Amino acid sequence: MTPVQTKALPAIWGFARSMIGRYRHEITTPALLLDLPVVRLNIERMAERMNGHARLRPHAKSHKCAQLARLQIAAGAIGLTAATVWEAAALAEAGVEDILIANEVVHDNKIFELTRTASRARVTVAVDDLNNARTLSDAATKANTRIGVLIDVDIGLRRCGVRSEGAACELALRVGRLLHLELRGVMGYEGHCALEPDRPLRERKTSEAMLKLAGAASAIRSAGLPVEVISAGGTGTYDLTGSYPGITEIQAGSYVFMDAARQDLVPEFALGLTVLSTVVSRQDDTLVVDAGKKTIGVDFALPRLVGVEAKTRYVSEEHTVFDVAPSCALVVGQPVEIVPGYCPTTINLHDVYHVIEDGKVVEIWPVFARGPGGGGPT
Ligand SMILES: Cc1ncc(COP(=O)(O)O)c(C=O)c1O
Repeated sequence: MTPVQTKALPAIWGFARSMIGRYRHEITTPALLLDLPVVRLNIERMAERMNGHARLRPHAKSHKCAQLARLQIAAGAIGLTAATVWEAAALAEAGVEDILIANEVVHDNKIFELTRTASRARVTVAVDDLNNARTLSDAATKANTRIGVLIDVDIGLRRCGVRSEGAACELALRVGRLLHLELRGVMGYEGHCALEPDRPLRERKTSEAMLKLAGAASAIRSAGLPVEVISAGGTGTYDLTGSYPGITEIQAGSYVFMDAARQDLVPEFALGLTVLSTVVSRQDDTLVVDAGKKTIGVDFALPRLVGVEAKTRYVSEEHTVFDVAPSCALVVGQPVEIVPGYCPTTINLHDVYHVIEDGKVVEIWPVFARGPGGGGPT
């Protein structure tokens, strides 16, 4: 497959590609490893699980990778979800034809990029503010393109989104009248439920959140407006949200890789992403590796060492420090793999994936729209 980038490939690209055909332990550490058979299985499993439920529109913020987006489309995804216009632009460049930006797009340069992307793919964006919608409408009119809109509803996370059914309905009525915008429905993100470890409580909280989203959708329908899309869902709630009556699309994305934050919550998906590192110090019960917060995302959970009994003591910039038993055989210089605490913020720290099959690097895949995206490194 050809690499897809919105900007010139970073210098690391040539070096990384020289690793193709090498064994995993030969890769310079720290490095991002993608276990291809596991990732393929996760993609297939999600497609199977969603069969007969809401359609899947996986979130690309978790992987930022053209090749993975294409695998998801091949497995039946109806399109991709993005968090930023830069991700959406990269997805359009990768050939994805239907993209939801499940986020507000505010800023002239970003709105310009949005109109450019909307002229090459079907693009839908979240809106929770009338002035923002008017700006989008003006920009779409000027660019002679059409932008789809979902009214973003706060369903308990208290992040973006209008706060009531009435406000959703009012905004929908006004958006419905704006030129070059197409009101397509509603979205909400139940992020306050997705990491709840107690499954019955997660079920209850998710169902309360979906009741709010469904309520906003029916209020808009009662006002005579179309609601073709009701979109929600994360990896921790995909099955609950995906089978809730009326939900049409699921935005889960991290199921592709999993991580320490979600591993125990959704055990039906396997770990497909690790950070390869090297032991740089071993003193008694203290084991130190050459990967820290600059290469491992630690949001929501501490990273874990793969296949070794160890307790994560702390993570600093360039190091992770583990407590190990005296019997632990690891010594300085040995490679180890680390399961990131949170996969989306891990991949954003890396230029490329080392794609692994049968213990060897079979491909190098770029990570697109990293950092601030438009002004970022790739
Ligand atoms: C708007 C939105 N949708 C969906 C998700 C779910 O993603 P994940 O698969 O990482 O749970 C997120 C996660 O942050 C999100 O912000």
